[in-house]
Amino acid sequence: MTDQGDRRDGAGDEAPRHVPVLLAEVLAALAPKPGGRYLDGTFGAGGYSKAILDVAPDAILLGLDRDPSAIAGGADLVAAMAGRLTLSQARFGELAEEAERFRMVPLDGVVLDIGVSSMQIDQPERGFSFRFDGPLDMRMSGEGQSAADIVNEAEEGLLANIFYHYGEERRSRAVARAVIEARRKAPLATTKQLADLVAGIVRGEPGGAHPATRVFQALRIAVNDELGELVRALHAAEAVLGPGGRLVVVTFHSLEDRIVKQFLAERSGRVPSGSRHAPAVAARQPTFRLVERGAVAPSEAEMRANPRARSAKLRVAERLDAPPRRAEAGLVALAGIPEPSPRRRS
Ligand SMILES: C[S@@+](CC[C@H](N)C(=O)[O-])C[C@H]1O[C@@H](n2cnc3c(N)ncnc32)[C@H](O)[C@@H]1O
Repeated sequence: MTDQGDRRDGAGDEAPRHVPVLLAEVLAALAPKPGGRYLDGTFGAGGYSKAILDVAPDAILLGLDRDPSAIAGGADLVAAMAGRLTLSQARFGELAEEAERFRMVPLDGVVLDIGVSSMQIDQPERGFSFRFDGPLDMRMSGEGQSAADIVNEAEEGLLANIFYHYGEERRSRAVARAVIEARRKAPLATTKQLADLVAGIVRGEPGGAHPATRVFQALRIAVNDELGELVRALHAAEAVLGPGGRLVVVTFHSLEDRIVKQFLAERSGRVPSGSRHAPAVAARQPTFRLVERGAVAPSEAEMRANPRARSAKLRVAERLDAPPRRAEAGLVALAGIPEPSPRRRS
């Protein structure tokens, strides 16, 4: 279930530009139309945004990214698009506010390509990768709690639950214990220190992922509140897409895909809405129609050419006329992913 973020997209030692994943499938799913209004919540290297603007004459697009370096890197594309592309450093969890702020509502399409870019992974100083030694950071926006803060300050039970719930690391408790013992001597400061510590506990499989893959994924999700962001973005998209507008989401691990799948199943009337603990609610009008029933996966050729694409899944739905629903706080829990807490698991 782990994502494929921490692998090279191409050969060579220079940091590669991000190769957009499932690009043709994203365009087919979004079906951009001339003069339409689009929002790309994960601008990254601008691969999706550029392609959308290229295929849809006179369309305009608002690109968001929480990483200031992604926004700065898009300056040339903004200039080349001559007024059709606007970029804003913001989280996609606040895409409704951003769309309002830039007078883009109602939108004809929202696209999200969740996760990290190759540029982020391949810069040791960002601290996302166990392949390089760098500070244990992992903050996409460069603000807030870093991975080092969590690793050096969280209680043992919370650490174990983060590794277990966000990384599905079976040795979560042993890793948490080892972190506590190590940090008694000195704080864990670098990716290599953490990767070596985990490798001493978690056995890697020959030819398989690095033993620290799941722990690194878990910390990245926790540092950036990635699942909470996704839930907020789905609700926000429901609020700002106009009838016929398309929501296209590409995910890279099962925790995210489960949230998207659950949200769309519920909003399209395929499963009853509301929490299973809440009293039965009257059937509500669907707010989305599924354009594809299941998830779209990359072709064999794309997976061969770009290993990062291997775990990608695309889901697409079209907004119907029904008014947006109130956001349910429990969607992460509904998708079967408990919020990590310091309490011991039974
Ligand atoms: C996989 S890359 C997107 C690549 C892009 N589709 C392209 O073609 O170049 C994901 C990007 O989303 C950004 N990101 C991740 N979480 C975010 C969030 N909650 N809000 C805004 N941007 C986010 C990351 O900083 C990263 O630049």
